[in-house]
Order: sequence, then structure tokens, then C-alpha cells
Amino acid sequence: MQTAGKLMKVFLTRRIPPEGMKILSTAGVCEVSLWDSDEPVPREELLKGVQGAHGLLCLLSDKIDAEVLDAAGPNLKVISTLSVGFDHLALDEIKKRGIRVGYTPDVLTDATAELTVALLLATARRLPEGVEEVKNGGWSSWKPLWLCGYGLSGSTVGVIGLGRIGMAIARRLMPFGVKRLLYSGRTAKAHAAEVNGEFGLHIFDYLFPLFPLYSSDFIVVSCSLTPETQGLCDKAFFSKMKNTAVFVNSSRGAVVNQEDLYEALSSGQIAAAGLDVTTPEPLPTNHPLLTLKNCVVLPHIGSATYSTRGIMAALSAQNLLGGLQGTDMPSELTY
Ligand code: NDP
Ligand code: DGY
Repeated sequence: MQTAGKLMKVFLTRRIPPEGMKILSTAGVCEVSLWDSDEPVPREELLKGVQGAHGLLCLLSDKIDAEVLDAAGPNLKVISTLSVGFDHLALDEIKKRGIRVGYTPDVLTDATAELTVALLLATARRLPEGVEEVKNGGWSSWKPLWLCGYGLSGSTVGVIGLGRIGMAIARRLMPFGVKRLLYSGRTAKAHAAEVNGEFGLHIFDYLFPLFPLYSSDFIVVSCSLTPETQGLCDKAFFSKMKNTAVFVNSSRGAVVNQEDLYEALSSGQIAAAGLDVTTPEPLPTNHPLLTLKNCVVLPHIGSATYSTRGIMAALSAQNLLGGLQGTDMPSELTY
């Protein structure tokens, strides 16, 4: 662990892009210690590193719960997460202690939506299988039905969670010729008008009405992980999908019951799935989902463009400084 200087103490649970480090090191407000690695901080080191800290900059892989907050002690004023998702933060405990929270909404929306569309197309048009066949000699000739998949033109797309990212995904999908855009969430969204989005309060009321013609050809999950969405995509959910339908998840792995997804994919209940997020992360290399050709799994790279990660790092550093100084944070979570 590296430590330098004095002033207010902040602990960073990982190396972050230089755009963020530069802001912290030139602010003259804090001394920075960090877990100087690209790999997650071991729990014991986190508990040690956070002791006496005024600020904590963490990642989505760090579980920030009562134990960490107790280890930090009463100095802790601010937690800044290098993510828009905040399901790894025990907000009830954080609130009890009056700690402010910063996060990184908006700046990663485009990158994540772009990746989700790429994943949807790769899954629906079977790109990883095709690439593999070219390499392994499976490509014998042009064949009428070989490696056929499903297209977006004329399709119905269901989006679970038409928030910032869900909406950015919908905007990008419409020009492919999508006919109907359905979405679910807790409330209808005014911005849905831009994509002619049709709202269903509960996913089963709307995305899967009784007449299967109206079922979605593609279902994209872009909601936040909450107690309500945990395990939302389970056996009952998949059993209502068409068996030609493609399922895509770029929110959080825990929204999906992976055993039920495996069953749905291997039995032909649904056509294919593309996942940027899993439980756990990383997904063990011997996981059953990885044996399926109709399941495309990516290593949680939704926001992974150089510029996006640089901007996320800068924003999380600015959030941290705002919290330390008791001034505005550019993106403070209100909870
Ligand atoms: P937003 O808060 O803008 O959107 C979240 C959406 O989830 C809201 O529209 C909300 O709808 C919806 N939602 C909440 N509860 C439910 C529910 N019960 N059923 C359906 N929808 C629900 O967040 P973002 O769009 O910025 O980010 C969404 C999530 O994407 C993040 O929380 C994170 O987990 C994930 N993410 C993943 C990335 C990756 O690398 N794969 C990158 C970035 C984010 P309502 O407003 O009606 O409650
Ligand atoms: C987030 O920000 O929540 C993503 O999962 C990673 O960018």
C-alpha cells in the first residue's frame, strides 16, 4: 500500500485512471493511500486501509457495509464510487452515519448502451459462433440455414428499466427497424415518447400479454439491482418468453436466476442470451452457462472505453473532493 503526504486522509480501493489521480493529487486537500493494484483489495486490507479515512473511493466490486464503515470510524464524510450502480453500498448504514455518497451517472450511458447493442447483435446473429467456425474449419461452404439467427427489423423489443441507459439503448435500436418498444419500470417515463415506448407497470402485464404474437422478440435488462429486481428473471419469467426470443442483460447479474436461465437456454425455451454481467464475477470458467453456444458472456465491459473510464475517474475524484470539503459534489446520490 502506498501512502504520501498529510491533510485529510482518503483511501482508494484500486488504481484508478490517471485523470482521477491527477485531480486528487493536485487538489492540496487530501493525502491519498491506495490499494496499488489492478486487482480487488482483499477484505482485510480494505478494513485496514479505511481506518481513520475521511474519504473512500471504491469500486462496484467492494462491498461497503457496516463492518467497513465501523472500521473507518467517525472521520468518514464521503464515499465516492467509480460506478453508476450502487447496489454494493449498504445505504441504510451509510445514511445512519450521515455520510455523503458520490457516483457516476450519465458519463457512461453512451458507452454502456453501445456495448449492450453490440452484445444484442452478437448474440442474435451468433457472431462468436461464426468466428469460432472460421477458425476451427467448420466453415465448409455457404449454406442456406447455417448460423442463422434473429434480426431486429420488424421486431418487438422489451426493455426492463427505461432509465438513462435503457433509453439510450432504445434510441440506438429504433433505427434498426424495431416495430414496437415496450418497457417496464416503477413509473411511466415521459422520455419514452421519443421511441414510442409503451409502458407496462409490471413486466408480466405488458411484455407478455396472453396472446403470444405480442411477446417481445428481444428483452433487454437495464434496470438497477434492488430487492425488487433481484431474481426478477427466473423460471416463470423465461417460461413466458417466445422460444425464438433473445435475452440480454447489462444491468447486474443478480437480476437473473442463472440456473433458470441455463435451463431455458438448454431446453430451447428461449433462443439465446447475451450477458455482460453475471453472478459471481468473474464467472467460473467451468460454469454451465459457458458450455452453451447460445449464451454469449462478456466480462462486465459495458463502460469500458478509454475516454469513459477516464471521465468516470475524474468525476469520482471530484465527488470525493466535494464531499471532503463540504461543498457541492458534481454527482451526489440522493438517498
Ligand atoms: P437509472 O437509474 O437511470 O435507471 C434504472 C432504471 O431501473 C430506472 O428506469 C428504474 O425505473 C428501473 N427500475 C427500478 N426498479 C425496477 C423494477 N422493479 N422493474 C423494472 N425497472 C425498474 O440508471 P442507469 O440507466 O444509469 O443504470 C442502470 C444500471 O445499469 C445501473 O444501476 C447498473 O447496475 C447498470 N450498469 C451496468 C454497466 C455495465 O458495465 N454493464 C454500466 C453502467 C451501469 P423507475 O424509474 O420506474 O423506477
Ligand atoms: C456501473 O457503473 O455500475 C457499471 O457496472 C460499471 O461501469
